[in-house]
Amino acid sequence: MKNNKILVIGSSGQIGTDLCLSLERIYGAENIICSDLNPPKEKNQHKNFIKLDVLDNKILTRKVKEENISEIYLLAASLSALAEKNVLISWELNMNSLINVLELARKKIIKKVFWPSSIAVFGPDSPKLNTPQNTILNPSSIYGITKLAGEKLCKYYYDKFDVDVRSLRLPGLIGWRSLAGGGTTDYAVEIFYYALKNNDYTCFLSKETILPMMYMDDAIEAILKIMTTKKENIKIRTSYNISAVSFTPKELEKQIKIYFPNFNVKFKPDYRQKIADSWPDSIDDQEAKVDWGWKAKFSLEKLTSEMFKNLSN
Ligand SMILES: NC(=O)c1ccc[n+]([C@@H]2O[C@H](COP(=O)([O-])OP(=O)(O)OC[C@H]3O[C@@H](n4cnc5c(N)ncnc54)[C@H](O)[C@@H]3O)[C@@H](O)[C@H]2O)c1
Repeated sequence: MKNNKILVIGSSGQIGTDLCLSLERIYGAENIICSDLNPPKEKNQHKNFIKLDVLDNKILTRKVKEENISEIYLLAASLSALAEKNVLISWELNMNSLINVLELARKKIIKKVFWPSSIAVFGPDSPKLNTPQNTILNPSSIYGITKLAGEKLCKYYYDKFDVDVRSLRLPGLIGWRSLAGGGTTDYAVEIFYYALKNNDYTCFLSKETILPMMYMDDAIEAILKIMTTKKENIKIRTSYNISAVSFTPKELEKQIKIYFPNFNVKFKPDYRQKIADSWPDSIDDQEAKVDWGWKAKFSLEKLTSEMFKNLSN
């Protein structure tokens, strides 16, 4: 795989931590270059880790050429809650990182790109239930605006320059290998850590806020699957809806109480409530199912049990 190496940008984050381990297992650690501004949580976690700022286009291009990279998974971004607090910095990171990577593909330096979009592309005018692939997209968060602009950019580079960029509209992700990185669904990861330490938890969303969520293993599987599907089967070049489960903080608390009956959650909604209220309750992912065989495996019950099993280990 000498001329076929993979570069993961943002490898120390919530998705990157899990994705790099899977890529290393599948393609061999020597073929995966993990990169981030920050080192991985565990020392020597990856065979190849480099410190890289995706916004430094000169160094990015040099590294990609030096390492014979053919695919990039671009995960560096400012997430929804964080982005509301740093609008300009987030716009610059979320947009210029994507432009830098798409340009490498346009110039045929690399062959394929994965870039995640988000359910944040939907807004208050989108249908809430089973939100379809094609619908009104009027995001009200700056994060959603960058994701929608990013989707349009991906389609433009595909249509105009035949850039093979593939994308998923990810819901809130729940995994145990790392904490979440400043999003509106972070409560659904933090809550497990509190329960395990026998502490009560104060949730920043109201108890009835229903949102689309997904266990990390499902998300990694979707990413690997869309990236290995035949090019002609990828019919959507903005970004695919994918879905797994939808639940409220109250429903998650109820699940956790099965393991920790004395666990309690207080609800104190903050500025993130407004973002959550603008997002769908559930997602219709028919196109992903038909085009490349997507199917989620983890229910709320199953992901709760997996979280406790892995976190207590
Ligand atoms: N985690 C989720 O629930 C979720 C849901 C929908 C979409 N997404 C999208 O998936 C992608 C990854 O999300 P995540 O949760 O892993 O994010 P994260 O915040 O946990 O990780 C992002 C990583 O990018 C790194 N980074 C930031 N600026 C950088 C730069 N200039 N150069 C290189 N690295 C830089 C950070 O150090 C961090 O390790 C993002 O595009 C996000 O919008 C995530």
